[in-house]
Amino acid sequence: MLGNFTYCNPTRLHFGKDSLDQLKTELANVGERVMLVYGGGSIKKTGLYDKIIAILKECGKKVFEDAGVMPNPTVEKLYEGAAAARENNVDFILAVGGGSVCDYSKAVSVSAHCESDPWEKYYLKMEEPTCRIIPVGCILTMVGTGSEMNGGAVITNHKTKLKIGHVFGTEVYPKFAVLDPVLTFTLPEYQMKAGFFDIMSHIMEQYFSGTDDNTSDYVMEGLMRSLIHSSRIAVKEPRDYEARSNIMWTATWALNTMVAMGKSTDWEVHMIGQSIGAYTDATHGMTLSAVSLAYYRYIMNDGLDKFARFAENVWNVDPAGKTKAELAGAGLDEMEKWMRELGLVMNITELGVKEEMFDGIAEGTFLLDGGYRKLTKAAVIEILRQSR
Ligand code: NZQ
Ligand code: ZN
Repeated sequence: MLGNFTYCNPTRLHFGKDSLDQLKTELANVGERVMLVYGGGSIKKTGLYDKIIAILKECGKKVFEDAGVMPNPTVEKLYEGAAAARENNVDFILAVGGGSVCDYSKAVSVSAHCESDPWEKYYLKMEEPTCRIIPVGCILTMVGTGSEMNGGAVITNHKTKLKIGHVFGTEVYPKFAVLDPVLTFTLPEYQMKAGFFDIMSHIMEQYFSGTDDNTSDYVMEGLMRSLIHSSRIAVKEPRDYEARSNIMWTATWALNTMVAMGKSTDWEVHMIGQSIGAYTDATHGMTLSAVSLAYYRYIMNDGLDKFARFAENVWNVDPAGKTKAELAGAGLDEMEKWMRELGLVMNITELGVKEEMFDGIAEGTFLLDGGYRKLTKAAVIEILRQSR
């Protein structure tokens, strides 16, 4: 049964070609001192940086730059950015990049005026912000995480080998997000594909949980069908606007928290993927693709009805003459074919995972209880073995 909930998503979206034109209007509503956050330099190569600087100047903003946000942003970078935001007394943070830049900006926004160590407060103790929060806006250049319309902020601590996500409340969500699919055309193929599977994984994490009849499951089946269809077009023709714009919109839907309302969710694949990320610094979406089949085959019998429904409604598997288990298995086989067709990473060895890391990765995997089977540390190790 659909549970009770209160829902609010305060992020204003500007979607489509040339939606960057809306930035000027948005900037009119923010303070004068703006911290411009970006990654390793792709925005300079594509010319987006120059366009944004010109708009910021036109709007009379005093700009402070925080560059070099790495994929899987680190706690050291967070400390550095938080200090810079505080020292420069910035009024607003403008994130230009992918999930890493957007997540990092949200983390900085709650850390700049934090009275204690943000890693300890937000990531180890999972406390909520009690300080002044600097508002964030986002211009998205990489599709997948949903960070543009949620409160997620994932930070990696390489010293302690922990990659942890804090899902902050609506006060930390970006105030606005600019989503122009054309800005994602310059993505390297590997990143584009990793993003596709990240989207699929977000939907599956929320779909494979619960046994009730729930509207969100029907919505998610539609989102998965759209993603599968458009991703097949986009890998062949990355500049197909229709496919790329559909994928961008699906990504936002997949993790703007709407489909999770009133239902239970799993997230165990992400927990394993994040721990792999802490050990290898691998690309997020590929850490998920490398373990997903082993995980879902491991838990399939515990959620057989849903896996059978997935096979029929998402992958069009004909149920005639099949037992429920055969139908469920055939659905996962179809998913495997699609993953191979896309050219995703299908094993953890390719990501640099070695057997001697298994114990540590399992230790760093948070064991949640929303899925069809609660894992143990031994079960995580078994899934890692099957993902080699
Ligand atoms: O740093 P630059 O030079 O910009 O290059 C980036 C980066 O190397 C490049 N890139 C991005 N847009 C580009 C581009 N290159 C050319 N043209 C463009 N238009 O792509 C690389 C990857 O970018 P990144 O931001 O790291 O990727 P993604 O969006 O997948 O973000 C990954 C991070 O988000 C977290 C992940 O754990 C990871 O730390 N997640 C955040 C979530 C959330 N907020 O809810 C949920 C997700 O499950 C995920 O955990
Ligand atoms: Zn993800």
